[in-house]
Amino acid sequence: MTSRPETSGKLPLTDLADMKRRRERIVMVTAYDYPSGSLADAAGVDIVLVGDSAAMTVLGYESTVPATMDEMVMLTRAAVRGAKRPLVVADMPFGSFQISDEEAVRSAVRFVKEAGADAVKVEGAGLTVSRVLALVGAGIPVMGHVGLTPQSATMLGGFRAQGRTSARARQLLDDARTLEQAGCFSLVLEAVPAPVAARITEELTIPTIGIGSGRDCDGQVLVYHDLLGLYQGREPRFVKRYAELATEIQDAIERYAADVRSGAFPGDEHTYSIPDEDLAAFLSGSKAESETEA
Ligand code: KIV
Repeated sequence: MTSRPETSGKLPLTDLADMKRRRERIVMVTAYDYPSGSLADAAGVDIVLVGDSAAMTVLGYESTVPATMDEMVMLTRAAVRGAKRPLVVADMPFGSFQISDEEAVRSAVRFVKEAGADAVKVEGAGLTVSRVLALVGAGIPVMGHVGLTPQSATMLGGFRAQGRTSARARQLLDDARTLEQAGCFSLVLEAVPAPVAARITEELTIPTIGIGSGRDCDGQVLVYHDLLGLYQGREPRFVKRYAELATEIQDAIERYAADVRSGAFPGDEHTYSIPDEDLAAFLSGSKAESETEA
């Protein structure tokens, strides 16, 4: 990655469209707590997404569907404390925006007011377009998400690439245009064939952020646990691992456990001293020293 120039303060949302015009690629990564938010910030990413992938990577659910607003608000608040410079986008979990425009605005307001998020992300098109209009109307920036939308994976026939026939590719382009017109400031394209994603990217003025959608998107996103080798569940083909931290962490914990069991930890360097005379007095049962200590 070419690193961005050192600037202080939050990346302005409007810079993203300028980056697209300059063909400067946008870097987004998910983060779900203070350490991952701070590390993403220190690494110089542009956007931190508190994705509902947290349901699987952090909370241990089988899919993203069970994630609740309370869980997502708590995770977003922690990530925001760590990610000072990147834009922080909170993912609206399943059930937080499907029922009505009012419910969508209520949920998004929680992310902005209680958690300090800069923007929200909503999956889908169709019904979602009305939610985008309501959210943008309420002054909340919205990132769209089309292609493989995990919250509706069952409807899509499972976790599979989308837009692989001319009719479906055309539908995706129409959805992307509609979401742009509704006011999205950016759009995630997930598991879309690279040439289709390239065409959508060309047609839109807002930046596209790809995941499994080829290199011609305006930016890329990966899930923190996938790129670091921390998640040991099913891994999509579009994941590139940059580390194998799960193995390293398990190895470190095993070495710690072995040291505790053998008595090798803690060593003298990990403990505190007491002057010899105090120790002698303490061990002989004298209370005189400790009474004057306070
Ligand atoms: O929840 C998530 O992490 C996401 C990204 C994969 C785009 O939606």
